[in-house]
Amino acid sequence: MGLLDGKVAIVTGAGRGLGRGEALELAREGAAVVVGEVDRAAGEAVVEEITAAGGTAVLHVGDCSEIEHGQGIVRTAVEQLGRLDALVNNAGILRDRTLAKMTPEEWDAVIKVHLRGHYAPTHAAVNHWRDTGSSGHVVCTASTSGILGNFGQSNYGAAKAGIAAFAQIVAQENWKHGITVNAICPAARTRMTEGAYGERISGPAGGEPDFDFWHPDNVAPFVAFLCSDASSAISGKVFGVQGDAVELYRPFTSEAAIENGGTRWTAERLAERVGELFDTTGMPLAPENGMARLRYSMTQRS
Ligand SMILES: NC(=O)c1ccc[n+]([C@@H]2O[C@H](COP(=O)([O-])OP(=O)(O)OC[C@H]3O[C@@H](n4cnc5c(N)ncnc54)[C@H](O)[C@@H]3O)[C@@H](O)[C@H]2O)c1
Repeated sequence: MGLLDGKVAIVTGAGRGLGRGEALELAREGAAVVVGEVDRAAGEAVVEEITAAGGTAVLHVGDCSEIEHGQGIVRTAVEQLGRLDALVNNAGILRDRTLAKMTPEEWDAVIKVHLRGHYAPTHAAVNHWRDTGSSGHVVCTASTSGILGNFGQSNYGAAKAGIAAFAQIVAQENWKHGITVNAICPAARTRMTEGAYGERISGPAGGEPDFDFWHPDNVAPFVAFLCSDASSAISGKVFGVQGDAVELYRPFTSEAAIENGGTRWTAERLAERVGELFDTTGMPLAPENGMARLRYSMTQRS
């Protein structure tokens, strides 16, 4: 008995890395899987792996950020596999460069694949579930780069922070329809992050001796859980997932306020008083390296 027996799930960008691990895990848990992938050969290989292991999978080739692809991949699930229960928006790319040197093409490519790549399949899936009165689960893929802020990734971070906001908002809009929407911020060694997570480290003392903390497949079980009805009470949340750890992030919260006695501020008066916000909170005035706040860093577990 698997957690997803009889269910059907879509994973975008399932041809390699995290998406491949997620597709295989969903299949192991009993789901029939639509492998979404822009790279046909990579997608075919994952479909073969799933079917060789006794599971069911079909390939849907295309760019997840195209509206027609979003509609088509949902249609593939329903027409070829009979239903749709979960959507994992995973596909992504990097075009890292500091803003001053970033070309419009690098900006647009990253924003499109991530943000439209979440909008297009989610729009189609949510409307399918609402039209048929069915419940469903959406897993979005954000990143600590967006919610904490990583140097050199203004395009990617803006898209990923947008995805975290997207999950929180679409979750509210669809809660009463029995549709959950959550986001993960994964961290793992893949083609995308070879440099950062290349080194193999193990888990804490007492764990499996050959546990590979940054292995991409470590992220997949939590995604399978979020795709299952066992997670139906959880929505609009952002989780960190890596190794054997799952973290719960609190979204932006207001830390301090200044008020002006019921009258409009003047810029001069603000110049005198804005410092109170920083005095109250202890926050520095200069930009911070948000990634320094990672609990699980790239080279060590803390
Ligand atoms: N690896 C990490 O540590 C990490 C950290 C934070 C977030 N993420 C996110 O996780 C997701 C998966 O990343 P990964 O590390 O597995 O990368 P990856 O490069 O190994 O795999 C990404 C897959 O998505 C596919 N893809 C790219 N653009 C596509 C498109 N437009 N339509 C369909 N498929 C497309 C690629 O062909 C590839 O197979 C991405 O959204 C990434 O931003 C990864």
